[in-house]
Amino acid sequence: MNAKVVISKSLNKSTKATPLSVQLAIKTAEVRDSLSRIVKGLDGFFLQEDKNADRVDVLVLEIGNAPESEFQTISTLLQENVVETLFLTSAKMTPDILLPALRAGAKEFFQQPINKDEVAEAFQKVLLKARQSDQSDVTTTRSGKIFSVLGAKGGVGTTTFAVNLATSIQAQDKDKLVALVDMNILLGEVPLFLDLEAETDWEEIGKNFSRLDEAYLQSAMARHSSGVYVLPAPSKLEKETHLPAGFLFQLLRSMRRFFDYIVVDSGMIIDESYAKIFAESEAIYLVSILSLPCLINVRKLQESITATGVGKEKIRVIANRFEKRAQISPSEAAKIIGTDIGMTIPNNYSVAMSAINNGKTIPDMSGNSDVSRAYKKLAASLVDRAIERPGGVFRWFR
Ligand SMILES: Nc1ncnc2c1ncn2[C@@H]1O[C@H](COP(=O)(O)OP(=O)(O)OP(=O)(O)O)[C@@H](O)[C@H]1O
Ligand SMILES: [Mg+2]
Repeated sequence: MNAKVVISKSLNKSTKATPLSVQLAIKTAEVRDSLSRIVKGLDGFFLQEDKNADRVDVLVLEIGNAPESEFQTISTLLQENVVETLFLTSAKMTPDILLPALRAGAKEFFQQPINKDEVAEAFQKVLLKARQSDQSDVTTTRSGKIFSVLGAKGGVGTTTFAVNLATSIQAQDKDKLVALVDMNILLGEVPLFLDLEAETDWEEIGKNFSRLDEAYLQSAMARHSSGVYVLPAPSKLEKETHLPAGFLFQLLRSMRRFFDYIVVDSGMIIDESYAKIFAESEAIYLVSILSLPCLINVRKLQESITATGVGKEKIRVIANRFEKRAQISPSEAAKIIGTDIGMTIPNNYSVAMSAINNGKTIPDMSGNSDVSRAYKKLAASLVDRAIERPGGVFRWFR
């Protein structure tokens, strides 16, 4: 009975699915004609004749006399997400053409004269992959939760908070998949805090954005002994890299499919690209200390964030390095910022500092300390509500 239901559902879906667009950028007339005949005969595809279309699902490109510049174009097309899948063809099939072509991101290379079966098979694979991801969009109704961490000022403990939140969440449930993403361009410190050597940062991942999937992400991210997967920020900007607009948001959104929790060290700076990330976040932790300049920043940041349409209830102000005898009490602070302090984390300089200097988390450094207990309590409150686990390759690495 059940199987029947599933089958009829999926049939229903495939008949409703929109066909994928194909564009041919082929100079040789015979090659263009035979490819266009083949594509027209394929179910699930249509030939996009409009050369000004914003994006196409499949582009078949003929490599001509200037392969170098053509490979450059190819990389750009894929990076900018203008083309989803790229197939190449060329009269020559020599390694000096083939290798850079595949490296640039081409999925298949068609020999000339064109072989119909070879082409049809390559297109079938594209269709299958597209339909599978359609299906998973439908079935993955639950996805990982993003916790954004933002500092009201430099040096207030934002990275400490992000690192210890992520690892404390993981400690709550070893079976959960937890990611920690460092957004501090050039000044990212997450790997340092965790004594990790990471080879890939998110700029590197951006270059391969068109093939972003769980297998690729999994191999690209470094794994900390706590179990947390870490994605560092680039430590130098490569001039030639142009990440697609909204890339970080797209990346986080994709990561939600593979991870249960994603903690983002957003650093201090916010610009409009963060609005979307905050909107998708389960909570935004605004890390502050109870000093007047910092609290004034908290108020300004709250206003900027809510002005983008993000609900105020998502923002939780964290009073870090809290001391009971401090000049400004949490209730006075609440008056200044117009909302309650969500949580206080005790001031414990020696533990916080030796954790950083040893590349350890605070609980690993001193599991019984007041700060450790604060993080544990917070993590427990977040992991309580069991969520359905997203599937995928990551499951095998639990
Ligand atoms: N609960 C705490 N008690 C005492 N010191 C703390 C606590 N949390 C963090 N610190 C200390 O605050 C300092 C700054 O921490 P951290 O680097 O995490 O801040 P940040 O806001 O990320 O800084 P930056 O703006 O440079 O990125 C560190 O020396 C850290 O040990
Ligand atoms: Mg920091």
